[in-house]
Parts: sequence; C-alpha cells; structure tokens
Amino acid sequence: MRLVNTHYVEEGSILARPVINPAGKILLQAGVIMTASYIKRLRTLGYDVLFIQDDRLEDVEAHMSISGQTREVAYKTLQNISKYIECDSENTLPVASVRRSIQEMINDLLFSSDILGNLIEIQGYDDYTYHHSINTTVIALVLGVASGYSEQKLIELGMGVMMHDIGKIKIPDSILNKRTPLTVAEFEEIKLHPTYGFDILRKNNDFSLLSSHIAFQHQEKWDGSGYPRGLKGSEIHEYGRLAAVADVYDALTSKRVYRKAIEPNVAYEYIVAQTNTHFESRILDVFKKHIAVFPSGSGVLLSNGQRGNVVRQNSAFPNRPYVRVFYENEEPLPAPIDYNLANNPSIMIIKVDNR
Ligand SMILES: [Fe+2]
Repeated sequence: MRLVNTHYVEEGSILARPVINPAGKILLQAGVIMTASYIKRLRTLGYDVLFIQDDRLEDVEAHMSISGQTREVAYKTLQNISKYIECDSENTLPVASVRRSIQEMINDLLFSSDILGNLIEIQGYDDYTYHHSINTTVIALVLGVASGYSEQKLIELGMGVMMHDIGKIKIPDSILNKRTPLTVAEFEEIKLHPTYGFDILRKNNDFSLLSSHIAFQHQEKWDGSGYPRGLKGSEIHEYGRLAAVADVYDALTSKRVYRKAIEPNVAYEYIVAQTNTHFESRILDVFKKHIAVFPSGSGVLLSNGQRGNVVRQNSAFPNRPYVRVFYENEEPLPAPIDYNLANNPSIMIIKVDNR
C-alpha cells in the first residue's frame, strides 16, 4: 500500500486501510473500490491522504498507533468530560473513565512498533480539539514509553495530556476557530486556557496534581518565552516539557480550518530547530528516535531525481528510511530499486510527493 493525496486518487483504486473519523467510526472499509463520489466526499470532509493498495508495495506495513475502538473510547470520554464542565459539574469529573481510556491506549502502544509512523491518515476537518487531544496523548505516551516510564508514570502523563486543552471550553469558538489572525486581546484570552484547565482539573481529587500541571504548563517554553507564567528549564515539570513537544508536533501536522496540514518532515524540522529555545534537547533526542519523519507508505522525491515510496523505517535513522523507487526524472524505471537510505548517505529525501 501507499499514501496517496486525495487529489491524485484514481477511480477504481482500492482502499488499503479503513478511513476512520475522529470519533473512531469507520467511514469506508479497507477493500472498498474508490468511486468519483467517494473521492469527492472525502475531499469535502477534509481528508488529504488515503492508503491505497499497490502490488509493488505489498510489504509496506503501516500500523495504527491505537485501534479504532481505543480511539472511540477516548473520544467519548472527552465528549463526556466536556458535558460535565458545560453543566457546571467540573469538580465531579468522571476521572476513572479517563484513566481507563489511557490504560487502553498504553496497551495498544506497547504492542505496536517502536517508531510512531502513522498518525496522519485519519484527519478530516471536524472535532479538532478532541482529535488533537487524542493524538497528542499518543505521541506523549510514545515519548514516555521510550523514556522508560513506569506504567504509573505513563498513566499520570497520559491523563494530563489528554486533558491538556480542556480549559479551551471556557474560550469562545469564535476565537478558537477564527480564520484571520488573532488580535492582541484575543490572543490574551487564548493564553488563559492553561490556567482555566488547571483550575478545573485540580478541583478533582482523583486527578493527580502532577497531571493537572500538564494542562497548566504545556504552553511554557524551555527558554522562558512561553505562557502563562514564563517558567524556564527545569522549573517546568518533565511532563510539561514532554507534552509541549507532542502538542506542537500534532498541532502542526493537523489540518485546521484556516490552514493546510504541514508535512511530518517539515514539522519535524521546525521542532528540531527549536532545540534549547522552545524545547529541551533531551526530550527532542527521544522524539527524533521515535517519530517517523517520513511515515511508511509516503511518496518521496529523492535528491538523485528518483521518486518512490517509503517501505519501512530505520529505527536508528528515522529521517533515512528504506525507500523503493519507480521513476527517474518522471520516466518509469525498467525495474524498481530499493534503497536503505542509512547506507546511502549521498541520497536525501527532498520532499514528500504523495502522487
Ligand atoms: Fe494548548
């Protein structure tokens, strides 16, 4: 299978992976033959890429980070929590359901590969906040597992990250979903969401104070330039530093009403460029080893003019995966060529090209 931009998906091609909406519901099953109306509909819903069957790339494996069922449970948990807050029951949140949902995510992740390659296939336009909360939690848990966290720490981390943006409930949608740049006053309002979230969570005794601090601290930056308190370096709890990386990576690679999703490799470069300014270098070292820069199945153009797809990841070199090429200067090659880019330092991936 390979990733194909929905603008290039051809009628008659076969879906290799189900299309799942942010609530975990299957919109189209794997094996479905794509018709013009399906393609049009998915584009309208904001789906940029799909996994399409390709005989030449049968060996590409793109594991789901968490199962559709786990995602559905997480989604419903978030929906339910929001209802409690909207009904002024913010000091009796169903904390046990958050814990159960995080436990399910951890179980799924412990059975998946150690590089997180595929968060990108299921993004439409709707429900950004829930979708973002779930994906940010998955990324944070991957970083937590890779940092050797105990199950207890993973649960504490996951529960806080899942709730990190809960304070946004107190901010008007007109500001959150504004398509034009925010005014200074509007941005000041956005900057209140970590404090709002912290104030909600800490009223719940079952919710650990360290987890609540993730909501409070996820917008702080390593150099002190973040908000709400301008904390610096180790003044920010490790959970908060880790959540900041996961939050920004998912925010950049998600599609928003006012901008397109940024390719994973571009988001990766952006984050790595902020080492020691926005983010702690030690956490970025873990991030660099465990988040796939070019997800398996991605179409890529190489510096030698050849074009093909990522076949699998190289755990020691996440930015140098295994690639199979089919074209050279847009002419079909007589036979595909496989590269392990870790062994071919002179060849680089220039850009993602999901045709
Ligand atoms: Fe946030």
